[in-house]
Amino acid sequence: MSDVQIYEGALDRGLEGVVACSTAISTIAGSTLLYRGYTIEDLAAHATFEEVVFLLWFGRLPGAEELARFQRQLDEAMPLPPQSFGWFHGLPTAVHPMDFLHAVVAGLSLHDPDSNVLTWDANIRKAVRLTARLSTIVAAYDRVRNGQWPLQPLPGRSLAWNFLYMLQGKEPSARRVRQLDTCLILHADHELNASAFSARVTSSTLSGLYSSVMAAIGTLKGELHGGANEQVMRMLLEVGSPKRLESYLDEALAARRKVMGFGHRVYKDGDPRAAILKRMSAELTAETGRPELYEMSAAMEEYMHERKGLIPNVDFYSATVYYSMDIPIDLFTPVFAASRVSGWCAHVLEQYQSNRIYRPRGRYVGPTDQRYVPIEERSGEGAASPAR
Ligand code: COA
Repeated sequence: MSDVQIYEGALDRGLEGVVACSTAISTIAGSTLLYRGYTIEDLAAHATFEEVVFLLWFGRLPGAEELARFQRQLDEAMPLPPQSFGWFHGLPTAVHPMDFLHAVVAGLSLHDPDSNVLTWDANIRKAVRLTARLSTIVAAYDRVRNGQWPLQPLPGRSLAWNFLYMLQGKEPSARRVRQLDTCLILHADHELNASAFSARVTSSTLSGLYSSVMAAIGTLKGELHGGANEQVMRMLLEVGSPKRLESYLDEALAARRKVMGFGHRVYKDGDPRAAILKRMSAELTAETGRPELYEMSAAMEEYMHERKGLIPNVDFYSATVYYSMDIPIDLFTPVFAASRVSGWCAHVLEQYQSNRIYRPRGRYVGPTDQRYVPIEERSGEGAASPAR
C-alpha cells in the first residue's frame, strides 16, 4: 500500500450548484432571466440586439448617440478583412458549420493586430469584430457551399437585417428582421452556461479573447448545449405526424435516449426564453403554412411534462422558429453562436476585471502503488476498453 494522500474534496459531478465566479452580467432566478437587472421579457419586447450587446458589455443601456456610434463600429467591422479572402474560399465546406466557424475565427485571429493584446480597449475592439463577424461568416459559408459568391453587408442596417440579407440574398421584411432580432436577444447570454464557462476558463489563463471564443464555439457545438436546436428540428421532421409522437417519445425514453430541447440544469419550472419562442413558433409556423410543426411541438411539450416532468428549453421552440425563417437546419447552432458571442465577450471582459485562473481538483480513483516495469518485462496486451 502506498502512503500517497489522495485529495478528498467534495465531488460535484457536472459542477451542479458550484458558484465559480461573481458576475453582474446575467442571472437566473427561478424562471426569471435577467440581463444586467432587466428581465428577458422586457428586453425581448423593447430592445434591439445591438442595445443588448452594449448593455452586456458596458453594464447599462446606451444613449441615442452612443448607440449610433456603437452601431457604426459594428457596421465597419462586419465585412471580413480583405486578407481573409485568399484562404476563406479554400476551406472545405462539406463539414459541420460549427467546425467551419471555429476554423475561420482561428484564421481571423492571425490577421488581427490586437489578437494577443489584453487591454480593455483592445478587448472591446476584438469583441466588436467578433460579434459583428460571426453572422457574416455563417452567411458566407452557406453561400460558398452553394456555389454562390458571398454578399457584403450593407452599412446602416442591423446585424439581424444583414444576416438575413447575406444569407438569403434579398432584403428581408421588417417583421422578419424583428423576429430574428428577438431571437438574438434571447440567446445573447445565460449566466455561467457551459460555453461561457469555457470562455472564462480559457481567458483566465490570459490566453486572450479569440482563444476564449474559439473554446466557447467548440463547447456550444455539442448537442447537450447549443447543438440541441438542430437535433430538435431533425426529430420533429422524423416524427412527421402527431399520430407518431407518443410512440416515438415512448421508445426514446424506454431506450434512455435524451429528447433534444428538453430539460435544463437550472430551470425546473420553465425557461422564460422558451415561453417567448413558443409564441413566436405558433405565429411563424402559421404564417409559413406549417402549423402542424407547432402543434406537434406543443403536444410533445405536454407529453414530456406528463411523462418525465421535463420542460422545453431555449432550443426547443427556436428550432421551428428558425426553420420557418428558412434558415438551413445545420445553421441553427451557428446562428445561436452569432448571438451568444456577445455574451462570451461580456464574460471575458468581466473575467479580466478580476482574474484568477480556474483550477479545480479531480477526485483521483486510480491506483497509487504502481512501479515502472521495463518494456521487455511487461506481460501481454492490455484491455482495449478505457481504463477505470
Ligand atoms: N430527455 C430525456 N430525459 C432527460 C432529458 C431529456 N432531454 N433531460 C434530462 N433527462 C433525465 C435524465 O436522463 C436524468 O434521468 P435519471 O435521473 O433517471 O438518470 C434526469 O432527467 C436528470 O437529467 P441530467 O441529464 O442529469 O440533467 P443535467 O442537468 O445533467 O443536464 C441537460 C441538463 C440540458 C444537458 C439535459 O436535460 C439534456 O441532455 N437535455 C437534452 C439536450 C438539450 O436540450 N440541451 C440544450 C440545453 S439548453
